[in-house]
Amino acid sequence: MRVLVMGGTEFISLHLVRALLARGHEVAVLNRGRRGERLPAGVRTLVADRKDHAALRAALREDTFDGVVDVTYAPTLGEDVEALVDALRGRPHVLFVSTARVYDHTLPIPYSEETPRGLYWGEYARHKIAGEDALLERHRRDGLPVTIVRPTHVLGPLNTRHNETFFMDRIHRGRPVLVPGHGGWLRQFGHVEDLADALAAMLGDPRAHGQAYNVMGEETITQVGFVELIAEVMGRPVTFRHFDPALLTGWDTPGPVFGQNLVYDCHAVHATSKVRLDLGIRPRHTLHSGLARTWEWYRAEGLATRLVDFAFEDQLLATLGA
Ligand SMILES: NC(=O)c1ccc[n+]([C@@H]2O[C@H](COP(=O)([O-])OP(=O)(O)OC[C@H]3O[C@@H](n4cnc5c(N)ncnc54)[C@H](OP(=O)(O)O)[C@@H]3O)[C@@H](O)[C@H]2O)c1
Repeated sequence: MRVLVMGGTEFISLHLVRALLARGHEVAVLNRGRRGERLPAGVRTLVADRKDHAALRAALREDTFDGVVDVTYAPTLGEDVEALVDALRGRPHVLFVSTARVYDHTLPIPYSEETPRGLYWGEYARHKIAGEDALLERHRRDGLPVTIVRPTHVLGPLNTRHNETFFMDRIHRGRPVLVPGHGGWLRQFGHVEDLADALAAMLGDPRAHGQAYNVMGEETITQVGFVELIAEVMGRPVTFRHFDPALLTGWDTPGPVFGQNLVYDCHAVHATSKVRLDLGIRPRHTLHSGLARTWEWYRAEGLATRLVDFAFEDQLLATLGA
C-alpha cells in the first residue's frame, strides 16, 4: 500500500513509519520538516504546516494514497481533520489516533468503546472528539473508510511525554519520588511498538471500517505500583514522599512532580477485548518487558548522565520537612 503518515518524525508516528516499512508498504510523511534526519531511507517527506489548510492542499495535490494515518496533534481540531480529508485524492482508509481521554471519566470503569464520551479531560478531549466525529460523519455520509484508535499512556523509546523516563531520572539518582495523594489511582499503559504494529495491521482491513478501538496493554496498575515496577526493572530501590495535591496550587509555576501526565483524580481502566475479538490484535509487550526496553534505550542514549532540573521538587521537599 501507499501510506501517508501525518507527522512521522517523533515517537508514535516514527515507530509507525518503521512498522509500515517492515510490512513492505511505501511510506510518505507530512510534517513541517524539522527533524527529517530521523527518517529511515526511502521515506518521502511532504512539507506543510497542517494548520495552514492551503499549504496542506498544495502539499497533497500530486499524490494518491491507499492509507492515511493521522497521528499529529498540532493541536488538531475537527476542522483540521476535515481539511485533511478534503485535500486527499481518492478514497484511502483513514486511521485517526485519538485518545482514551475522550471517555467520560466520571463513569464507572472499565471504559469500553461503548462508553459515552465527555469533556472530563477538557480541551484535549474536545479536540479529539471533534476529530473522531469529523471522520465518522464522512464514513456515514460518503462511505469513506475510517477507523478511530484510542490509546492510553504510551511507553517506549523516544517518548516525548516522559511517562517512564521521568521516574528513571529520579530512581537512578537515588532521589525520592513525590506522590500527589495516595497514589492508588489505577491506570493502563501501552507500548509504542504495539501501538505502531496495531495501526499497521488495521490499515486496509475492511473489518475496521467505521469502528473505534481501544489499543493499549492489558495490565492495570496503580500510580505507585507503576513506579515500583520501574524500580524493579532498573534493579534499584525507590522511596516515596506522599503529599497533599492541594499544595501544588500555591505556586506560580509548579513543575511536574509525578510525570508530565500522570497526576490523576480518577481511575482510567479500559476494556481491550474489541480489537482482539474483531481483528485478532494483541500486544506482544507486557508492562515489564516494555519498561525494560525503555531502560535499555535510556542507558544506550546516555540519558543517565543528563542534567535534570529538580529545583521545584527540592522546594516542595523543603516545604514538607524531614
Ligand atoms: N504519548 C501518549 O501517551 C499518547 C496517549 C494517547 C494519545 N496520544 C496521541 O498520539 C499522538 C502523538 O503522536 P507523536 O508522539 O508521534 O507526536 P505528534 O503529535 O505526531 O507530533 C510530532 C510529529 O508531528 C509533526 N508536526 C507537529 N506539528 C505539526 C504541524 N502543525 N503540521 C505538520 N506536522 C506537524 C512533527 O514534525 P515537525 O515538527 O517537523 O512538523 C512530528 O513529525 C497525538 O495525536 C496524541 O494525542 C499520545
